[in-house]
Amino acid sequence: MYNWINAEDYTMDTLLYFDQWVLDYLLKDQAGFDGDYQELLGRALSRYPHVADYCRHMAPERKDYLEAALSRVPSDLSDQEARQAETRFLQYHETFVVYAWPEAMEQVNYIADWDRRWLDELIDLTGMVVLDVGAGTGRLAFAAARDALRVYASEPCYRLRDYMRMRIEKENLTKIKVLDGFVTDLPFEDNTFDAVLSGHVVGDDYDREIEEMSRVTKPGGWLVICNGDDEFKRTAPNAELLQRGFEAFRHTSPSGGIIYNYRLQRNT
Ligand SMILES: C[S@@+](CC[C@H](N)C(=O)[O-])C[C@H]1O[C@@H](n2cnc3c(N)ncnc32)[C@H](O)[C@@H]1O
Repeated sequence: MYNWINAEDYTMDTLLYFDQWVLDYLLKDQAGFDGDYQELLGRALSRYPHVADYCRHMAPERKDYLEAALSRVPSDLSDQEARQAETRFLQYHETFVVYAWPEAMEQVNYIADWDRRWLDELIDLTGMVVLDVGAGTGRLAFAAARDALRVYASEPCYRLRDYMRMRIEKENLTKIKVLDGFVTDLPFEDNTFDAVLSGHVVGDDYDREIEEMSRVTKPGGWLVICNGDDEFKRTAPNAELLQRGFEAFRHTSPSGGIIYNYRLQRNT
């Protein structure tokens, strides 16, 4: 648990802001969960029939799991027990909860404590056409827009896309375009970008992710992994990335952490 949120401040209505891919993930057993996840889900949703309906509609493939969860709720479950289940569920999924509440996501230290110098150290984006994959609230995309010719921010959560678009309008920016897309299925032609940036996105399937990011990068262009700052004292750079040829850069975060960032130039 990171304690990015205090779950007491949230309700299961948060799920109404999730896209299908997030619900597909939440409405199934969780590897490593300490306890009976399906029971927790049922209890957490027990006071939210409209949220259960939304889940049925948005994630039909998880309907059986959801119905089984709801069928396990004891008829005498108290409001207090239901609320306890709700806060436990939301705290457990805090990394998703912030996707629904971008202003809260901006307060998390990996974004709030980050300094754009850590991007400048990795690459000079002057005049480049840049993609930020899994852009979130736009930490990298907005920083890149200072020097780049154009920046595309792809992000699979509609709440975060809306947030970036609102920021673009508010700040009257013309260089950033926001769109949907998964790191393993980017909606771009081959060899489109001078640089593809990402932060905290790569890691579930290195081969597919890096292959797809490389596909949309021009020969001679750059893949950059620029993580945000936090308090974790990492002892070594990521071996998977080093093995794939990435060069690692280390710095100390204002939050006290040791951060590694990476870059790789695509073969010309
Ligand atoms: C921890 S946040 C990082 C946000 C931003 N890159 C940053 O570093 O400030 C991870 C982001 O990746 C997005 N994401 C999750 N799975 C993804 C995938 N398969 N492809 C692309 N983006 C993904 C999430 O919606 C979220 O915005």
